[in-house]
Amino acid sequence: MGEYRQNPESSGGCGDSLPISHESLLQFPTDPIACMKRLQAEFGDLAVMEDDGKRLVFVFSPDLNRQVLTDTETFHSRFFAVRGGRHSAQRRVTSGLLSQNGTNHRESRRAMMDVFTKRMLPQFHETITNLTCEMMESWQKGDVQDLNDEMVRLMLRLTSALLFGIDDVAYSVELGEKIDRWVRWNHEVGMGAMVSSSRFSDGYESLLEMAEDLEVSVGEMLQRHRHGNDRRVNILSLLLQAQAADSGMTDDQLVGHVTLLFAAAHLTTAHTLTWTLLLLAQHPQVMEMVRAEMDRDDGSLTPDHSTIESLTYLDQVIRESMRVLPASSYSQRVCVKATRLGPLNLPPMTPVIFSQYITHHRPDLYPDPSRFQPERWDAITPSSYEYLPFGAGSRRCIGAPLAMVELRTALTVMLKKFHFELLPGSIVDGQVVSTMLGPTTTVPARLLSTKEIPSAVPVAGTIRDLVKLPPAPFSGSQRKAA
Ligand code: HEM
Repeated sequence: MGEYRQNPESSGGCGDSLPISHESLLQFPTDPIACMKRLQAEFGDLAVMEDDGKRLVFVFSPDLNRQVLTDTETFHSRFFAVRGGRHSAQRRVTSGLLSQNGTNHRESRRAMMDVFTKRMLPQFHETITNLTCEMMESWQKGDVQDLNDEMVRLMLRLTSALLFGIDDVAYSVELGEKIDRWVRWNHEVGMGAMVSSSRFSDGYESLLEMAEDLEVSVGEMLQRHRHGNDRRVNILSLLLQAQAADSGMTDDQLVGHVTLLFAAAHLTTAHTLTWTLLLLAQHPQVMEMVRAEMDRDDGSLTPDHSTIESLTYLDQVIRESMRVLPASSYSQRVCVKATRLGPLNLPPMTPVIFSQYITHHRPDLYPDPSRFQPERWDAITPSSYEYLPFGAGSRRCIGAPLAMVELRTALTVMLKKFHFELLPGSIVDGQVVSTMLGPTTTVPARLLSTKEIPSAVPVAGTIRDLVKLPPAPFSGSQRKAA
């Protein structure tokens, strides 16, 4: 195991010879990134919050990330902390990969792996291109679009089409919103259990009701899929083939996998698209380089899969965007048996949190870490535990290759037709909701022709606490009046 660094100025002490923060545990769910930044500044690579006998442990270094993510016997995933009774809908809809551990997890991953292999990816190209073009049909140069809303709607529709072969906007939006509300509520209630707060845990009964309603909707979606006539390749039909080939996957597990896939796939990609377009709009020189790279191909507005895969600078832009504003900002494990983490003895059932955002903003790994600088990737090759937008180890995001194809293709098709400039004076807030870092306000952008390079117009909002942008337009007091 590698070394861990403790901030020499931190004070206090505990039996483990490690200082402890006694601020209220509620500080963490209220603003996870601000709380983790404070903890890292005060305590270094490993921090402990303790309040009313409950502990949360945080790891912030690549070595500790590695330990927590590779020792899967000790550190279990409990993404859905509240599983409900044995025969409850909540138990069934939470039975996807993120709730499984040990042999169960390994077997499910093996059964699903084929569906997500690289060789399947070119088959998704046409659907991604077509739906992105359809989104832009009503867009005109000079219009203002809310990138947040547009990207969420695009990814809801695209996720329904790619995962389930269903192309029905109203239906995708309804199912997606239901899943999002349920994921958020799971998180609130689960977090409440973790930090012993009635503020969250009172919602248990509502959570069970939401799960029942969601299970009915997912069942209907499976029916629609079985009776649908869309013959394009989709992930559900491949999963059904895997199930038929005797993978041991039960119908209840299928419901759990499908729910998790939808939940894991759409907002993560939508937020990454919005952040990338926002960062490009704010960095004209980068936009210039993206355009130069795109101008080198045959000029098609909808390049084929292999042309898009060869856009190496665009790839660096996406990589850097996911470094500086990772849609998955943190995740958690529960240590299920007594173990040692750095200098700390962990008793069983201690929650341990690792953070993509904090790791990606370490100045020792990424000089001037809050600056969006795609060129830095010419010189760095971080390890899996230094750069982990998709997680790392044996439960690294199974959808990562598909997500990258979605991001590269949707961005190329959009940027071949329009450039984007933020509206001057916009207030853009970014915040973590259920572990995901996304915009919580509109992100209004004016559509430019591809001959125009956007100006880095001044914007305000909490986005400025998360990433370095060109100078702010107005002060905090003006913001209140805005
Ligand atoms: C930019 C988009 C995405 C990001 C940033 C992202 C991020 C992540 C992260 C960080 C994890 C690991 C969580 C942990 O270790 O606790 C994960 C797991 C997972 N992701 Fe993604 N994801 C994305 C897109 C997708 C897509 C498109 C799908 C499905 C098509 C998907 C399906 C999953 C599943 C099923 C898991 C659980 C894997 C397991 O536990 O073995 N994700 N994702």
